[in-house]
Amino acid sequence: MATAAFLLLKIQDAGPFRAWLREILKGELTTAAEIPTERLERWTACMNVAFTWHGLKALGLDKDALQTFPFEFRKGMAGRAHVLGDTGTSAPEHWEFGGTRPGGPRDEDIHVLLMLYARNEEELCARLVRQRTLFAKAGVQELYCQRAAHPRDKHGQLTSREPFGFEDGVSQPVIQGFRKHERPSEDYDSPIAAGEFILGHDNEYQEKPLSPTVHESRDSLGRLNAAAQAGRKDLGLDGSYLVLRKLQQDVDGFNAFVEQKSKELTDGCPQDDEKKKEWLKAKLMGRWSNGAPLKPDQLEAPEPGPHGHSNAFTYSEDDAAGLGCPMTSHIRRANPRDSLAPEPGLSKLVSRRHRLLRRGIPYRCEPQTENTSPEQGLIFIALNAQLGRQFEFVQQSWLHNEKFGRLYDERDPVSSNQESGVMTIPMKPLRRCVTGIQSFVTMKGGGYFFMPGVSALEFLAHLEPTTD
Ligand code: HEM
Repeated sequence: MATAAFLLLKIQDAGPFRAWLREILKGELTTAAEIPTERLERWTACMNVAFTWHGLKALGLDKDALQTFPFEFRKGMAGRAHVLGDTGTSAPEHWEFGGTRPGGPRDEDIHVLLMLYARNEEELCARLVRQRTLFAKAGVQELYCQRAAHPRDKHGQLTSREPFGFEDGVSQPVIQGFRKHERPSEDYDSPIAAGEFILGHDNEYQEKPLSPTVHESRDSLGRLNAAAQAGRKDLGLDGSYLVLRKLQQDVDGFNAFVEQKSKELTDGCPQDDEKKKEWLKAKLMGRWSNGAPLKPDQLEAPEPGPHGHSNAFTYSEDDAAGLGCPMTSHIRRANPRDSLAPEPGLSKLVSRRHRLLRRGIPYRCEPQTENTSPEQGLIFIALNAQLGRQFEFVQQSWLHNEKFGRLYDERDPVSSNQESGVMTIPMKPLRRCVTGIQSFVTMKGGGYFFMPGVSALEFLAHLEPTTD
């Protein structure tokens, strides 16, 4: 979908809010049942809803059920800032939403995330108008609205380029049991267990992820399936946890850095100035900007194949030393595939347990005054079944880890919060050290959301209020 709106809502009165939920459940919400490939092309719009822990409380879920949600979700994203590396200008006290800034919608104010997607602005606006009319009736308060859109190229064609200019969304896990789309969705390994992304299904440990439950007495109409624990019903089945982060990208800063550092490059890289910049950008990201994987001895990006670029590559055989894709580049940190110690087979197994289903979309605010750059960035969205083991692990132990890929004192050159960072580019005969890496990305707001399956949504929409 070309364009999107992310609305952060506050439930003022649970009764009318549940009525709104029942209304949109009649056919407006997009569900997995509608996904058969042949219908994708005909979709004009999508709508999804997700809740924070505070939102589930405001909706009327009882204490006993609320306590069954995982710790990270209950704490919320701002409460996990120390784990996520959200410090300095990226700290929650500066966030536009979801943080601790007085006056801004704070973490505890945000109850609901409504995601609207459409093929074009006109259709999106029509959806927005309709939902805003419905909220008004349901007494729902709109706290924040973030618009986002995929950019178009010079021929008007939609692209998947993020603001630094790279093709995004290329590497996605193929999920076991899901039908293949018309375009072959290649991955470097066999499909990942559905329970890595969807609750109630087996995960890569051959067990079901921890799922929230309610006491069976709360489900008198039998909307939910029985949970593994006696006397409990499964609220998580077919649901997922959604990570939302508004990541502002300093495009001018990134380009200026690349320009300056590329001038210092001499041997082992292209000699043409423009190609030098492309080469350095690719080394930082770990892919060429057109999405092509980086191979040793390549000086420029190859042309994309008929289905875009292959994701079916690993590192241990062809690029163990990182002569193509540096060990500490963004993508090799975010998913080391088979390149972690002590050996490739084990590394693949480990990487399978930390995959993310990413659904990022760029945003851009045009400047109010001349000669200033637009504010732009990525609305980073990731779905996973375990926030701690998947999203938080990738962010903390791989992207921001100073000891990674047998190197020390380095962090992700693209997304890390740093003042004068370093990155090693393995080269022959001598490796090259890129220094002075700044924070090119600033965290502007975010939250952890629970995206319920349809039965759980029906249950929540018909929830009987309790007194606790
Ligand atoms: C503004 C910040 C970011 C930018 C500009 C960015 C950009 C990119 C790009 C261009 C790619 C390569 C193309 C692709 O495979 O989709 C990529 C891959 C990836 N990114 Fe990011 N990213 C950002 C933040 C993050 C964060 C915060 C995470 C997770 C915590 C993350 C996780 C990943 C993962 C898992 C991959 C796929 C790696 C693979 O399987 O090869 N990214 N990113």
